[in-house]
Amino acid sequence: MNKLNIKITKPDDWHVHLRDDSMLEAVTNCSTRINQRCIVMPNLDIPITTQKQCLEYKEKIKSIANQKNFIPLVPCYLTENLNLIEFKDALENEIFVGAKLYPSNATTNSSFGVKKIENIFSSLEVLEEVNKPLLIHGEKVSEGVDIFDREKKFIDDELVLIRKKFPNLKIVLEHVSSKYGADFVNHNDNIAATITPQHLMLTKEDVFYNESLNPHHFCMPVVKEEKDLISLRSYASSGNKKFFIGTDSAPHHVDNKIPKLSCKPGIFSAPCSIELYTSIFDEEDALENLEDFCSINGPKFYDYPINNNTIELIKEEWIVPEFTIYKDVKIKNFFGGKKLNWKVK
Ligand code: DOR
Ligand code: ZN
Repeated sequence: MNKLNIKITKPDDWHVHLRDDSMLEAVTNCSTRINQRCIVMPNLDIPITTQKQCLEYKEKIKSIANQKNFIPLVPCYLTENLNLIEFKDALENEIFVGAKLYPSNATTNSSFGVKKIENIFSSLEVLEEVNKPLLIHGEKVSEGVDIFDREKKFIDDELVLIRKKFPNLKIVLEHVSSKYGADFVNHNDNIAATITPQHLMLTKEDVFYNESLNPHHFCMPVVKEEKDLISLRSYASSGNKKFFIGTDSAPHHVDNKIPKLSCKPGIFSAPCSIELYTSIFDEEDALENLEDFCSINGPKFYDYPINNNTIELIKEEWIVPEFTIYKDVKIKNFFGGKKLNWKVK
C-alpha cells in the first residue's frame, strides 16, 4: 500500500454523543464530514426512551447534517420501567437500533440508568428475541470499587451473568478500556467492542499528575495503564473482527470541564477522530487493517450493509484547531493545538 495516500470504504462511528440544541448544531457536522452512519447516544438531559423522542431526535439531526444521506442510529436508553410493548415495537420497526445500558450514576446523564441488573432482564429478553444488540457502558459504580477497577468489576459481577442468561443476545462492550475487558470480548461469543482514540493514546498519567487533573483527558471509563493501552492497540490494529471504531466523542462546554467546580467526563474528538485512528494505525505499522476497523467490522457485527463510497487520507501535517466555537458553545477539541500527520483529502 502507498503509505502517503490511502483510500478506505467510508467509515461509520458506532458510538458518538451529539447532544441537543446549539451543542447539536455545533458538533453534528464534525461527525457527518467523514461518517455515513453514527450511533448517537441517547443520554440527553431527558433520556431518549420512547419512539416519539427517538424519531424527533433523528429528524433533528438529519435536518442539521450537511450530508443529506447521513444516517443517525439511536439506541433506547434502558430504564427499569420501560414500556416493553412500545420498546419491542420500536425495535422491530428499526426505530431504535438496539438499547444502551447505563449503570446508574456511572457517567454523564446516567441518573435514570439501571440500579439493579435483574430489573432489566425483561428488556434483555425482548432484545434477544428480536435480535437487536445491547450496548453497554461496562462499569460498576459502587462503594469500595476503585475507579480503575470499575470495568473489571462490571464484567465479573454483571456481564458474565448477562452472557450466561442471554447467550444469543448480541452485546457491544462500549469504549473498552482495559486489557481485561478486551480479552473478555475476544474470548466470548456474540460480543464485540468499540475502542476510542483516547484509550489508544493516553494513560492515567495524562489525566492525573502532580496532584492535579487534566479535565480535557477525563472521560469514563478513565484511561488506564500502559499495559491496557498496548493491548487495546494490538486488538484494534490486528484486524480482529470483534473490535471496531466508536469514538465516544463527547462534547462538553469548557465551563463544565473545570476541576473542583464541575468536571464532566467526556472527550470531544470528532474534529480529528479518523485522522487520529489513522496516525495510530500508521504508528503500529498496520495501515492495511485500518479499513476493517473503521468501515467493515462494525457493519458486519451490526448486520448493516458496508458503505459503497470511499474517503481518502493523505500524509500531510496540519494543526488541529484548539476549540470548536459556535453561538454560545465553546468546546476544547481533543488534540487541539497539536500537529497531526494524516489529513482527510
Ligand atoms: O466520558 C464519557 N462521556 N463517557 C461516557 O460514557 C458518557 C460521555 C458523555 O456523555 O459525556
Ligand atoms: Zn459514550
